[in-house]
Amino acid sequence: MSMERILIVDDEKLLRWSLRERLLKEGFEVLEADSGKAARSVIETGGADLVVLDYRLPDATGIELLNEIMAAMPEAPVIMMTAYSTVETAVEAMKIGAFDYINKPFDQEELVRTARKALEMSRLRREVRSLRRQQEERYGLANIVGESAAMKEVFHLIHKVGRSAASTVLITGESGTGKDLVAKAIHYASDRAGGPFMNITCSALPENLLESELMGHERGAFTDARSSKQGLFEMAGGGSVFLDEIGDMGILLQAKLLRLLEEKTFKRVGGIRDIKVDVRVIAATNRDLAKAVAEGRFREDLYYRLKVIPIVLPPLRERPDDIPLLVRHFIDQFNREFKKHCRGVDETALGLLQRHPWAGNVRELRNVIERAMILEDKEMLDESDLPEEIRCSGQGVNPGPASETAAGPAAGVSANGFRLPDGGYPLERMEQEMVRQALERSTGNQSKAARLLSISRDALRYKMKKFNL
Ligand SMILES: Nc1ncnc2c1ncn2[C@@H]1O[C@H](COP(=O)(O)OP(=O)(O)OP(=O)(O)O)[C@@H](O)[C@H]1O
Ligand SMILES: [Mg+2]
Repeated sequence: MSMERILIVDDEKLLRWSLRERLLKEGFEVLEADSGKAARSVIETGGADLVVLDYRLPDATGIELLNEIMAAMPEAPVIMMTAYSTVETAVEAMKIGAFDYINKPFDQEELVRTARKALEMSRLRREVRSLRRQQEERYGLANIVGESAAMKEVFHLIHKVGRSAASTVLITGESGTGKDLVAKAIHYASDRAGGPFMNITCSALPENLLESELMGHERGAFTDARSSKQGLFEMAGGGSVFLDEIGDMGILLQAKLLRLLEEKTFKRVGGIRDIKVDVRVIAATNRDLAKAVAEGRFREDLYYRLKVIPIVLPPLRERPDDIPLLVRHFIDQFNREFKKHCRGVDETALGLLQRHPWAGNVRELRNVIERAMILEDKEMLDESDLPEEIRCSGQGVNPGPASETAAGPAAGVSANGFRLPDGGYPLERMEQEMVRQALERSTGNQSKAARLLSISRDALRYKMKKFNL
């Protein structure tokens, strides 16, 4: 660790000298300034870690200089030296942000103690700041990859939500689409980033336990409650609470959550006192909440309250343009993690990845890349590094270039256009993929898609429903 630098600003030569001797003995590096002007020039040329500042200087007041120091060196604490007669100055200096003040004449022992305390505090502050930066790097927006229109909209919303007050956010999307990632990014992109981020999965606990986890409980609320306990909402004060799988929350607790969202108050289990909270609630689900409302399993009023800002993460198969970027991202990540030097995937493999239906979405893609990189030390991953079902989904489902260049439909459907892969292939998956591609090619026009598949529109609708397309 380099020596810490202390700047003494005082016009009394003797005081500077004796203080300097003492601080040097304590192992500090010492700089001196006998005027405001001299102090400014030290600030401009490298600064200091701590300033000991006299309240009265020939060419400036201590308060003026304090303001300048705080603007130029926000990390450096300032200790003011004041005379007994200037209590007001001391109070004002503390209000502006001086670390402490010390009355002249002072005991050097005391000054050294105060200086050490100040430096320790600023070290801790720097540490906290760097930890926060690390967290922001780890969980921030930069970790969410995507360039499809849908993902651009998601980025836009995260920014917007981050800057807005504590409004509630509802994230929906199939499993593995990145709901966790988005929830954290919202927290770390907001002015709540310095507060806690608390996370609970509503399906993991029975309703009464979930309630006491969230709301806390008073002593004696139930048999095991020997002491009172804060819940997540209290602990997350000033931060965010992420309620994952909100669709699984019991109906009684839903009512309590609604009250919390509307009135910003709640009661602990077994408590009678209303407790105020300041948290942002971020909820997520991979279920169809509208359907749950229609079936009476989810409160309609809560649904609308949560949905103030909806963020929809589309399934990966609907945004194949994100796949090259995601592949790059995961390769970089695993290169770092496994100390490998993979440069990418070749074109054929990328084509296969872009055509795969990805039932497990981004999580599945990540696992595929991870597996390939654990098993192989190649510079370029190719088709042979991909799992069977992905190689098959390409071979089996996409007839290949023959159909792309085909003049008429007959060419693509020729009996040997689709070859059953050696390992076999699930017929249903192929059917689903065909229906999806037909819809894609007809840009959603059902009559056209039905014609492409030589089936009736009703049959198409049935299949769309069956495959959730
Ligand atoms: N856009 C993305 N960019 C980078 N990584 C992503 C992206 N989307 C998802 N991931 C990664 O995919 C994995 C799954 O994401 P996440 O856990 O956020 O999904 P989820 O929607 O919460 O799934 P579940 O419903 O199963 O909880 C994680 O490793 C995450 O880092
Ligand atoms: Mg999740």
